[in-house]
Amino acid sequence: MDAAVLRQAPLFSQLDDEAADALAASMTENRLRRGQVLFHEGDSGDRLFVVVEGKVKLGRTSADGRENLIAVLGPGQMFGELSLFDPGPRSATVTAVTDASMMSLTHDELLRWLAGRPEVARGLLLQLASRLRKVSDVVADLVFSDVPGRVAKALLDLASRFGRTADDGVHVHHDLTQEELAQLVGASRETVNKALADFASRGWVRLEPRSVVLLDVERLQRRAR
Ligand code: CMP
Repeated sequence: MDAAVLRQAPLFSQLDDEAADALAASMTENRLRRGQVLFHEGDSGDRLFVVVEGKVKLGRTSADGRENLIAVLGPGQMFGELSLFDPGPRSATVTAVTDASMMSLTHDELLRWLAGRPEVARGLLLQLASRLRKVSDVVADLVFSDVPGRVAKALLDLASRFGRTADDGVHVHHDLTQEELAQLVGASRETVNKALADFASRGWVRLEPRSVVLLDVERLQRRAR
């Protein structure tokens, strides 16, 4: 288990080293194979998770079977706390996009930490507030932005977490299929592919299987606005 990655999680962000070690010691390791489902939307849940290695996707399915991706999370990111703070079923299905390892904490254990350590509550509030900001942005983009704008934004968001800067640009191994990228943008696969092909023909990106190289970040940022 990579303690440094765990330490980046919001749960730990306000803790000193000693408390962080104690919190890590109360967590359990979970491993997933690529494609494996950790839990389904609607399940009851009793723990939250921090991704240590790999990536997971958070998805929802509509009544008529269409799928939407809420987020793709990687190392240091956390999920599974909503069903504790707002008691109810899991709000999304979590599936491994790559082989992944996670550390989990039971809700009961989290409540004990929250009672004894206000810093843990502060870390969680920071995460909830930043997520709310992000959800508001997504809603605004769905109303105000066109699909190419949303594609540009999704690529930049993936790059901020999974990008690696090289001489020719920012290499983003998102590990998503074209279908999953479209589900993340909230548009049809055809429309998203068209936007990607257009960006590629302008020299802004280079498309590779399950990854993309951002060649002109500035133009993409302008398109995302
Ligand atoms: P929970 O409902 O327990 O299980 C699914 C988890 O997905 C949820 O907790 C949150 O941690 C996470 N989640 C739900 N909605 C969002 C969102 N809009 N952005 C990021 N994570 C989310």
